[in-house]
Amino acid sequence: MARSRYPRVVRAPRVAPPAVRPGRQGGVNQDWAAVDAAFESWLDEPDETLTMALADAVAAGMPGINVTPMQGKLLHLLAVSLRATRILEFGTLAGYSTIWLARGLADGGRLTTLEREPSYAEVARANLARAGVGDRVDVVVGAAAQSLPSLDAETFDLTFIDADKVSTPLYFDWAVAHPRSGGMVVVDNVVRGGAVVDDSGADANVEGIRQFMAAAGRDPRVSVTAIQTVGAKGYDGFALAVVG
Ligand code: SAH
Ligand code: DHB
Ligand code: MG
Repeated sequence: MARSRYPRVVRAPRVAPPAVRPGRQGGVNQDWAAVDAAFESWLDEPDETLTMALADAVAAGMPGINVTPMQGKLLHLLAVSLRATRILEFGTLAGYSTIWLARGLADGGRLTTLEREPSYAEVARANLARAGVGDRVDVVVGAAAQSLPSLDAETFDLTFIDADKVSTPLYFDWAVAHPRSGGMVVVDNVVRGGAVVDDSGADANVEGIRQFMAAAGRDPRVSVTAIQTVGAKGYDGFALAVVG
């Protein structure tokens, strides 16, 4: 029998999609993980520096909340399409999403990423250097809201908001006030396993996302959509805003 042209995908036995929404942590249906693995095998060149960045994140005891490879590639493609020369990121962790974004910068472009935890920033700097983008990225340590005044004179082609969810409304408002024409703002984790529709007010992170969504929809400066996603990281989603 002729060999398939396609990489063989090791597939878990089929499981029915959950009848009720998965847990708040975004339980991972095995099909979602298998499909993400297949997408990666078809669409993504294995990259040692990205793999090592994640390994070092684990070694440093960081939570595994980085974007997935396919989400990282979406961020990369947005940066490329925008011919971005200025990118801002809220929430660096080990610099995994940062590497994807920085590799999408146009020649001479620069990325600033804001991280509260000094030890995370240190790991991220090493990962960024190993990935060959250390010279294009400034990792700014401190609570993001405190770092923003130093960036007040700047404008950004692309902003990725992925830090504490409580402050998402504030970060989004700042990003939209520092736009480039046609610039984009991407906001991660707007679904959180379906928790976004929980209006009990019990979870401050969920409240932050709900406030952001409602404000974004009323904001005349932007046009916004939100997309639910499933995959290796469970059930979540992102919002995408175009400025102007
Ligand atoms: N963008 C990363 C994941 C970020 S996880 C990736 O996809 O690879 C969220 C990060 O935000 C964590 O590293 C956390 O320390 C940081 N963070 C949380 N609150 C913050 C704040 N107030 N200011 C800046 N960073 C913050
Ligand atoms: C969490 C944060 C994230 O940025 C993410 O993508 C997933 C989970 C969290 O804080 O639980
Ligand atoms: Mg996130």
